[in-house]
Amino acid sequence: MADLPMTVTEDRLPARVTIYEVGPRDGLQNEAELVPVEVKEELVRRLLAAGLPIVEATSFVHPRWVPQLADAEDLMSRLGEVGRDLPVLVPNERGLDRALELGCRHVAIFGSATETFAQKNLNRSLDEQFAMFEPVVRRAREAGLDVRAYVSMCFGDPWEGAVPIAQVVEVGRRLLDLGASQLSLGDTIGVGTAGHVTALVDAFGDAGTPVDALALHFHDTYGQALANVHAGLRCGITTYDASAGGLGGCPYAKSATGNLATEDLVWMLTGLGIEHGVDLTALLETSTWLAGHLGRPSPSAVVRALSG
Ligand code: HMG
Ligand code: MG
Repeated sequence: MADLPMTVTEDRLPARVTIYEVGPRDGLQNEAELVPVEVKEELVRRLLAAGLPIVEATSFVHPRWVPQLADAEDLMSRLGEVGRDLPVLVPNERGLDRALELGCRHVAIFGSATETFAQKNLNRSLDEQFAMFEPVVRRAREAGLDVRAYVSMCFGDPWEGAVPIAQVVEVGRRLLDLGASQLSLGDTIGVGTAGHVTALVDAFGDAGTPVDALALHFHDTYGQALANVHAGLRCGITTYDASAGGLGGCPYAKSATGNLATEDLVWMLTGLGIEHGVDLTALLETSTWLAGHLGRPSPSAVVRALSG
């Protein structure tokens, strides 16, 4: 049984949050060595068994662009009915067709707040990305699917530097206007800090986006992810993306490193008395098991502390 922090609550924070686990997708997509599909299947099943309410399973992107996830069909077939409720990334209609073929009920598109990253990640201009996403969202909605939208580079871009808040809000609102039900604001390279999070969430609020339509997606490159979650909690955000063991990164974003580790997030939420439904012991065992397969220890501070 993992140690747990003492619980001391803080006023005006949400009573409950949803952890959106991205380990099998964001966590693994950057792994150079191919992870066997059996390991991926077990990872997804173990994460669900640990109480993670949402586990993003894989991506239906071009296999040449992300070879690690070329086994998306195989993985989803193995997961069967369980897999149909797990979100998967789809960049375009071809990706959506693949997801529909397997009966997926939740898909996620992923846009960029900057011109350079739209080119590098999607081979499209900033404007062209919307034309690519429009039929995906329309057809997904017509088929009764739920659509999440990501925006990357919300807090800074390795090629363009600072990204104006107004630009992020414009891109995010255009994605929501296409028909996405949730917008996940991505700090792809982990450069955001707490005041920036508050300013961005407030700017979406000023533009009329309800706080419950937003999720936050932090990478922990500069060790700011938990402080940024805390800023998000104070703004009333109740969905946070995280990756078991802190794996992750985007192969098309220079300097992108691991996501916020789910264990680190669980530890902080537990300390704050915020309900999350995750069994830290089971999660820790899963990350330790996965680290064995990947051949290196987890970068998560909580995993390291509890494994000692
Ligand atoms: P493209 O080369 O412009 O594609 O790539 P295209 O539309 O010109 O098509 C070229 C060929 O690819 C065609 O085949 C298509 O059928 C095929 P051909 O006719 O030549 O034989 N094709 C596909 N095949 C399988 N699945 C597909 C697919 N699409 C086209 N879905 C494309 C455009 C979007 C496909 C490409 O740029 C791509 O796959 N990009 C994905 C990059 C990626 O996965 N990045 C990581 C995820 S984003 C992320 O990690 C950030 C996030 O975590 C948030 C954050 O941290 O900020 C979400
Ligand atoms: Mg990411």
